Amino acid sequence: MSGMGEKFETKAVHISHQPLRHARSKSTPIYQTSVFSFQGLEEVEQYYAGEGEYLYSRNGNPNPTELADAITALEFAEEGVSAASGMGAIMAGLLAVLKTGDHVLASHEIYGGTYALMHKELSRVGIELECINLNELTTLEGYVRPNTRLFFLETITNPLLTVVDMPYWIKQAKQFNLTVMVDNTFATPYLVQPFTLGADLVVHSATKYIGGHSDVTSGVLVGKKELVSRAREIVVNYGASLSPFEAWLTARGLKTLAIRMERQCDNASQVADFLRNHPAVSQVYYPSEAHTRFFARNKQGAMISFSLADESQIYSFYRKLNWISFAPSLAGVETSVSHPVTTSHRAFTEEQRKATGITMGLVRLSVGIEAVVDIVAELDQALK
Ligand SMILES: Cc1ncc(COP(=O)(O)O)c(C=O)c1O
Repeated sequence: MSGMGEKFETKAVHISHQPLRHARSKSTPIYQTSVFSFQGLEEVEQYYAGEGEYLYSRNGNPNPTELADAITALEFAEEGVSAASGMGAIMAGLLAVLKTGDHVLASHEIYGGTYALMHKELSRVGIELECINLNELTTLEGYVRPNTRLFFLETITNPLLTVVDMPYWIKQAKQFNLTVMVDNTFATPYLVQPFTLGADLVVHSATKYIGGHSDVTSGVLVGKKELVSRAREIVVNYGASLSPFEAWLTARGLKTLAIRMERQCDNASQVADFLRNHPAVSQVYYPSEAHTRFFARNKQGAMISFSLADESQIYSFYRKLNWISFAPSLAGVETSVSHPVTTSHRAFTEEQRKATGITMGLVRLSVGIEAVVDIVAELDQALK
């Protein structure tokens, strides 16, 4: 490097830094940098005038941008932002819409963490949550108040895997001028794109199918340009930005989303049939083709929940599993099981669990890409 100091101490710091701006690497490099350098104050001015892209990685970095742009395209949305987790993305989406005094209507079947965020945190700033059972309603009339701003639902719910008629409920919410936010984590844009059905914001725990390998925690929010732009500011101001490496891993996982989903959904459909006919299983929760008719493909997802006929066998069931691991997450290439009552839905009260059917004997199964005969055999020996 010309003009560089000659002393060892100076060279050691500067010698390796040769940005290869024009190298055509086939895969995206990891921009593992906390900050970007500028060639003078003019360039800084250009950045603030909106002409330069990157300043400081919490504000923006090519890897999180690459991920957000990819999900925006796959969801047919206008704009996207990555976040440090699914919860970070949900928080940013909610705060982009809501202010003190607002009221949120949400499906009563939502992820426990989302419920906790709204019920415990947003309530402190005067945002009120009301959960409603969409399976028992046909209209939002009577629930929408003058201060209701947002309607929140999940495409496939966690953990009972209910699929409500999303196009219908989005239309309902629009009649009352509500902003609609959909958590599409369990379905992924491979199965359905809620933005094309009228949702304003679509959120993903990219920790799950988008990453797909249980090695990353990340989130993405996509949707209408003005809402996502505000959400981006919130991600930056609350320090919920996704790191370059996590973004890179997630974007790498995304490349195989389609073939993973094909295989995992096909496996799940066969495993659901097996469980339905098993005497040790009293109920199987797996979406039906009728429920998923608005999906872009005839697939019902790769998550199954089921109840043991004898609830007291629950400890023995988990103990007997050999290679299917108990892991309170989902969507990896490996099949895994979880137990909603003790993990994801801990925040629910006994009453809420009873109302939603999340019982002690309920097992949540995330079906992976293994040979389906092996998955069935492993479950069978643990159920015996
Ligand atoms: C449906 C759903 N949404 C959001 C989240 C939160 O995502 P994260 O753990 O990446 O923050 C989860 C986590 O399990 C989830 O299942």
